[in-house]
Amino acid sequence: MTAAGVTVVDHPVAQHKLTLLRRAATPPSLFRRTLRELGALLAYEALRDLPVAAVRIETPVAEMDASEIAQGTLAVVSILRAGNGLADGVSDLLPDAPVGHIGLRRDEATLKPERYYLNLPRGIGRARVLLVDPMLATGGSAADAIDQLRAAGVREIRFVCVLAAPEGLAHMAERHPDVPVVTAAIDSRLNEVGYIVPGLGDAGDRLYGTV
Ligand code: PRP
Ligand code: URA
Repeated sequence: MTAAGVTVVDHPVAQHKLTLLRRAATPPSLFRRTLRELGALLAYEALRDLPVAAVRIETPVAEMDASEIAQGTLAVVSILRAGNGLADGVSDLLPDAPVGHIGLRRDEATLKPERYYLNLPRGIGRARVLLVDPMLATGGSAADAIDQLRAAGVREIRFVCVLAAPEGLAHMAERHPDVPVVTAAIDSRLNEVGYIVPGLGDAGDRLYGTV
């Protein structure tokens, strides 16, 4: 984690997958599979310092003290819709982590998030939360999702995205300076309609083929 709390995952495999996502010619089937794979890679990096518990196990050869992620340590929360594309990859990695959903849609005129759904796992206040959404544009959606997690009693949150705009990072630093951001890239800017440039377009539409 850098001083600003932003980690750019510049691993060649992550960057290769990001390029596939960026290409306009990538069809929804490949976009979906790649977003899922990148979700696992980004989560792996974001959870580097997750605490583990000691557990006594038997290998086929001997007893030993091993490590495991205790039940209840981690929960995943997806910002609908596009967050589900990343959350599926996190679930591939950590299938026992419960998954919550926060429904937000960005108003195309004001660029402000509108709430439409909330379903969080029981006991989420005791878990560390990995909040996932591929796009951090203005930062309004991520900041609002974090407000909702805080209201549910969550103390530790990490935000994972694929692309971050400088405007979104600034918004997060102002509203939630304690939440680390893990991303595959920081792009140049937002355009006049609030899209990340060069970006990858509308993540939800590309994921679900609703372009
Ligand atoms: C997209 C994206 C983020 C949000 C980012 O979702 O997945 O949630 O926009 O923009 P912001 O940082 O300016 O808030 P959208 O609202 O288009 O919904 P969708 O995932 O259902 O397509
Ligand atoms: N939401 C997206 O899906 N893409 C952007 O570039 C900005 C917000």
